[in-house]
Amino acid sequence: MKALILSGGKGTRLRPITHTGAKQLVPVANKPILWYGIESIVEAGITDIGIIISPETGEEIKQKTGNGEQFGANITYILQSEPLGLAHAVKVAQPFLGEAPFIMYLGDNLIQDNLNPFLDTFKDKHLDSLILLRSVANPTSFGVAKIDENGRVSKLVEKPKDPPSNLALVGVYFFASTIHEAISNIQPSARGELEITDAIQELIDSDKIVESVQLQGWWLDTGKKDDLLEANRIILDTNLTINKGGDIDQKSQVSGRVNIKESSQVINSTIRGPVIIGENCHIENCFIGPYTSVGDGVTLIDADIEHSVLLEKSQVLEIHQRIVDSLIGERTKLEMAPQRPKALRFMVGDDSHIELV
Ligand code: DAU
Repeated sequence: MKALILSGGKGTRLRPITHTGAKQLVPVANKPILWYGIESIVEAGITDIGIIISPETGEEIKQKTGNGEQFGANITYILQSEPLGLAHAVKVAQPFLGEAPFIMYLGDNLIQDNLNPFLDTFKDKHLDSLILLRSVANPTSFGVAKIDENGRVSKLVEKPKDPPSNLALVGVYFFASTIHEAISNIQPSARGELEITDAIQELIDSDKIVESVQLQGWWLDTGKKDDLLEANRIILDTNLTINKGGDIDQKSQVSGRVNIKESSQVINSTIRGPVIIGENCHIENCFIGPYTSVGDGVTLIDADIEHSVLLEKSQVLEIHQRIVDSLIGERTKLEMAPQRPKALRFMVGDDSHIELV
């Protein structure tokens, strides 16, 4: 059994955060989304992992994630020169996959469930494919499945205008080697992509066995800001180990579940968990409220922030209004003049979104 993680694509929906960086490397609770997937694959006993990368963001993914040693895995990087669809990515990965059955995992998805029970079902029933489903309020944004009373999948459609059910395809799939022939029989969709939903439909149409299971735990497709903040909230709620390290002065109050790295400094501040603070941060005269992740090298001075994610080396200085529900990109600086500002001055990247509420 092998695994294929898809970390190519364009990542247009998290711009400008992902103009330069890979959306799969955006951190949730200070850990790249992609790494959660790798860890859960390794936990299921699969260590031979291929990662699809794009020319734009592949180097960064390789450099941060490495050869897999830190996860107890062996990672092979596979370049997809253009984002021509999920099934196209499988095609490109065929030399790596060979005839092995495999898990395909979308690198921007996070699921709570352990993969082992799904893997057992897939193997024990000798399925051609096992797909994971979850009911959603907005099925038009996903691949959608229609299932019969025995859990067999009868129809799959990608982002349908008129969804046949509210069961969305979660970005984790199990495939036997029969998927390769199915992919060779499909054509690009209207949006010009080789769709994995069409390839699975091809399996169904040629009487191969495709079953589904419905996810019990939470699932997050972290493509958008609010999804990412929600993923951050859930991970901080469920997976945070307490570590009140760091240089915390007498005037500071740290309460609740908080993880502060040893090299960070906290001066005259209140931190109310769940909160994670990375390496080499400087926090002075601040309130940091629940569900906030502070990346490495962040400086916060005279700031009040909660339910937010701050990426590496960002700075928030002298802003006394509370900052909430925010995603602040790497090396971004937010600053307010000490006297009440008479004007607002911005240097903001393309596709940014600023709300002065
Ligand atoms: O998140 C679940 C949904 O994922 C499913 O319900 C849909 O059926 C499925 O098509 C997919 O839809 P998205 O629109 O969310 O796919 P996205 O383009 O965001 O790509 C998912 C991941 O795969 C992402 O990490 C980028 C990567 N990718 C994407 C394409 C199109 C590649 O590596 N290569 C590609 O060519």
